[in-house]
Amino acid sequence: MDIARTPSTPEGNPEMADAAQEPRQPAAIRREDYRPTAWLVPEVSLEFDLALQATRVTSTLTVARNAAADASPTIRLNGEGLEPMAVKVDGAMIDSWVMDDADLIVTLPGDAHSIEITTSINPAANTALMGLFASNGMLCTQCEAEGFRRITFFPDRPDVLSTYRVRMHGPKTDFPVLLSNGNLEEQGDDGDGTHWAQWHDPWPKPSYLFALVAGDLIANSDSFTTMSGREVALNIWVREGDESRTGHAMESLKKSMRWDEEVFGREYDLDLFNIVAVSDFNMGAMENKGLNVFNTKYVLADENTATDGDFDGVEGVIAHEYFHNWSGNRVTCRDWFQLSLKEGFTVLRDQLFSQDMGSAPVKRIEDVRVLRGAQFPEDSGPLAHPIRPDSFREISNFYTATIYNKGAEVIRMIRTMAGEEAFRAGSDLYFQRHDGQAVTCEDFVKAMEDGAGLDLSQFRLWYSQAGTPKVTVRLEHSGDTATLHLSQDVPATPGQPDKHPMPIPLKVTLFDPETGNRAAGHDGEQLVTLTKAQASLSFPGHVRRPVLSINRGFSAPIVIERDIAQEELVFLAAHDDDPFARYEALQDLVVRHLKDAADDRLDDGARKHGRAAIIEAIRSVMADDTLDDLMRGELFILPSETYLAEAMPVADPGRIHAERQALRAAIGAFLEDDFVALHTRASDVPYSLEAAARGARKVKTQALVYLAAGNPERAAGMAAAQYDAADNMTDRQGALMVLCGLSAVERTNKLIDFYNRYQGNPLVIDKWFALQASSMHPSALEHVKALADHPDFTMKNPNRVRSLYMAMAYNPHAFHAEDGEGYRMIGDVILALDPINPQTASRFVPPLGRWRRIEAGRSQLMREQLERIGKAPGLSRDTHEQVSRSLG
Ligand code: PHE
Ligand code: ZN
Repeated sequence: MDIARTPSTPEGNPEMADAAQEPRQPAAIRREDYRPTAWLVPEVSLEFDLALQATRVTSTLTVARNAAADASPTIRLNGEGLEPMAVKVDGAMIDSWVMDDADLIVTLPGDAHSIEITTSINPAANTALMGLFASNGMLCTQCEAEGFRRITFFPDRPDVLSTYRVRMHGPKTDFPVLLSNGNLEEQGDDGDGTHWAQWHDPWPKPSYLFALVAGDLIANSDSFTTMSGREVALNIWVREGDESRTGHAMESLKKSMRWDEEVFGREYDLDLFNIVAVSDFNMGAMENKGLNVFNTKYVLADENTATDGDFDGVEGVIAHEYFHNWSGNRVTCRDWFQLSLKEGFTVLRDQLFSQDMGSAPVKRIEDVRVLRGAQFPEDSGPLAHPIRPDSFREISNFYTATIYNKGAEVIRMIRTMAGEEAFRAGSDLYFQRHDGQAVTCEDFVKAMEDGAGLDLSQFRLWYSQAGTPKVTVRLEHSGDTATLHLSQDVPATPGQPDKHPMPIPLKVTLFDPETGNRAAGHDGEQLVTLTKAQASLSFPGHVRRPVLSINRGFSAPIVIERDIAQEELVFLAAHDDDPFARYEALQDLVVRHLKDAADDRLDDGARKHGRAAIIEAIRSVMADDTLDDLMRGELFILPSETYLAEAMPVADPGRIHAERQALRAAIGAFLEDDFVALHTRASDVPYSLEAAARGARKVKTQALVYLAAGNPERAAGMAAAQYDAADNMTDRQGALMVLCGLSAVERTNKLIDFYNRYQGNPLVIDKWFALQASSMHPSALEHVKALADHPDFTMKNPNRVRSLYMAMAYNPHAFHAEDGEGYRMIGDVILALDPINPQTASRFVPPLGRWRRIEAGRSQLMREQLERIGKAPGLSRDTHEQVSRSLG
């Protein structure tokens, strides 16, 4: 029998004093305080007695002193919300353990011991979805970053690598399928309605990669033969009824496995690869060794329920998690400050994969749009941090666009400077040198230097400095010489007032405006790396003033401020042979115009002139038959309101919205017949997943978007017709999205039809919520309020919460309602969600944190919400950290 006992508290812990009133907000953890672990855990054996409300966990750890660390007589076993029911050392029950806050401290006399600990947990009550939780009757774990400590006491840090043996036992009817990492060793039936399975993972891994799943699941099974001829069994586990929607995920998995062999030389290393789809999940997916756990959103897809964008999302996330098997699992992070080591690299790898699977330029533009929409605002606000942060309080708050997307851009720059071949050599060396280790970003950079033959001394600043560099560009022409003047400025960010100049690789070319060709001496593009605060470069041999194309392919994640005439932008928008640069020229043309308009700097004449240039550019995009529709659709997309706000020191969201809508209406009205013709042409293309058909669907809905602004009545009729004729979700959702923004009867009818048609399919009902919450409709905020009372709405499912409230928080005209109602609603959501799911709650703080960059009236209202949240008693560490940084 186990002896339950009351944990003792170490005396004189000052933080315990006020624990009754205020949850302690622990001191920040600092990167420079890293110390190697005093104890290693080479082997772990776990036994689970599974039940929804009381799962008993017995863990046996083989521990050994780490010779590379300072000796310690005690081992710290992290815990969270756990009570040890029994603790044994070398087989004998001990009571000399103590609790330090939530951690268990055990004194160990020798150099090697075994520790056995029993705990009991309640998965059904786990609404935070970290550790072991229940979802739709199944049991599932999520351990990254610090969830394992909610299952059992353990040195829960990524530099402790162990091999795991997992034995689980439970009722057969509830949990017919029992999965964990690695290979199935043994299984058996107890004959009393229960059964068991034993799994063994031969690859040492940190605790954050542990996973267990038990439930009533069925698999789509397939296999893959690796480059060395090994056969790997593949399974995608879903709930019965969903298996018909796993085909795309399976194809994506096999493509990812092949691609990683061909492009990075990485082969899979187990005989089995399992993916499980769960509907309650905080993030997109998780790369647990041999047992990836996915949000259903990134597994289930078919043409009737998923859009083309959803298909891409599945392919990209499947690839991302699979690629982690090397960049993350075989080589992992020493500590959580190194998170970008695995995430930045893996995002780059999934981006390159998706570029190869579809249209590379379109993928590049999409990735830049994500960076600008999510990361640039982060980098210019109170939550700015370097891709390798120096401190944090709650690591969950650092799964950010900076760590992921800017991290990927930083490694992409290394690839650009090295060239593909040398980059591959650097990557090979990194994997070879560090296989089986928990390492740092510095180790990665060093391997890149050694393997690719680069000097990255100054480049390391990209890891330590936050903030998006601004590069000011001016081309001077005199005589027959063009001179490029560049200067850079890295803005101050919290805790980093002074910055050093960084190396900025810029792909550059010059065009002759008269011939439209590359100017003399520029048959290719040149890579110019700006390393100083200022530099000038001369290009002789230009009798005419050339047109400069710079940061082609978005070679550096920076803001360019270019002194360039409107005619030159129009020229580049029509002629630049780099698709990204062409897109960029059009974006710039629109950004300039809208900035001036929103700042009241345009008289009627200037406004007309500006609009005319943009309309002309859009018209030439429409008519240019060298473009495919996927790219054409990309060029049609106006810069987002968030991006426009970002381009202004202090933004008035109301003005930006009004001006952007007015421009869209002008384009839609002026080019009405062209958009109708485009819609008709695209509607004739039958459904397929081929690029041409996908492109047709993209421009079809975009035509409706412009028409909805230019001629709402006509658009409503066309959208309703597109909705009725749709034989796929892309067309249907596109039509409904347009209708949601209009005050037409068709809006109500189609919303009702959509709900009835897809009732019972949670992922599609999520769309139904999100379309209304992100709509252009003037009453969007009232719609959100009403939807919160809909019987299908629940605060317990993160996908549903995001589909309603995240959609609203990123819908500028709703969120920034002048009376502050949007801010209040998000404040209420944070307070209501925080006790249920702090991780998801704290993700709603950043939109409010933008207050410093918003005009005074709204700014004050945003701040008031942050203050209100900050004062709430019992706030989670997650939300508390984000709120205090946002106000700080
Ligand atoms: N590591 C996961 C990924 O990028 C993300 C994740 C983080 C999932 C934390 C769950 C919890 O792919
Ligand atoms: Zn990842």
